[in-house]
Amino acid sequence: MTIRATLFTTATASLMLLSITSAAVLSQTVQASENTAVVIDQQSFSCIRDMTPVRHFYVDNLLGNLDGTLAVANAPEGAKYPTGTVIQLVPTEVMVKREPGTSPATGDWEFFELEVDEQGSTIAKRGFTDVNNRFGGNCFACHLPARDKWDFVCESDHGCEPIPIDHSMTGALQRSDPRCGEPALESGDSMALFKLKAMVTIGAVMQWFKDIF
Ligand code: HEC
Repeated sequence: MTIRATLFTTATASLMLLSITSAAVLSQTVQASENTAVVIDQQSFSCIRDMTPVRHFYVDNLLGNLDGTLAVANAPEGAKYPTGTVIQLVPTEVMVKREPGTSPATGDWEFFELEVDEQGSTIAKRGFTDVNNRFGGNCFACHLPARDKWDFVCESDHGCEPIPIDHSMTGALQRSDPRCGEPALESGDSMALFKLKAMVTIGAVMQWFKDIF
């Protein structure tokens, strides 16, 4: 064998070894993250803007697999989010992807309704098919139409009924999350928050009306 051929063979062999090793490391990492329990308490949630923005919402991964979460969030045809994924559109509502098999009905998503203030987050409600938000709407039922293709993530065009809160309002809520310190409001945010407040008041009045009659 010529020296050049020997060098080439050695280089190829080490490259192969390298890729085998990295594949093994990768599969170990994936396995580790799939087997690790996702421990969630109120410390798990903080300033929404410290998470990673995707379009108009924020994502994170409690097991450190942010790349896996981002890959799915940006998959044009949708996919299943990896264990540990956290998604938030507004400061008070969170979806967390639990360990495989935890809740087949919800695709292993656990839904959370939080109370947030300058001190941090308190978990008001958590669960799977039975969590309602502060307006009495069931998280699971609303997100169900997006189940098959988009793993329960509604966005604007994944088949869920649209909500009356638009992205100027969700953006204003993100920029005024009390857990982040001073609000970082942009022009138009005050008006968006004002409209939102008015809608919530009208909603509350209607509920009161319904309760009486
Ligand atoms: C009335 C129906 C409805 C209810 C009730 C509801 N959601 Fe949603 N949710 C939606 C829709 C529709 C979107 C997408 C809004 C958009 O971006 O235009 C959404 C967006 C989200 C998002 C951002 C990712 C996504 O799916 O687009 C999260 C996270 C979320 N909701 C969590 C919750 C949680 C947690 C609850 C219960 C505490 C809840 N939702 C209750 C309809 C609902």
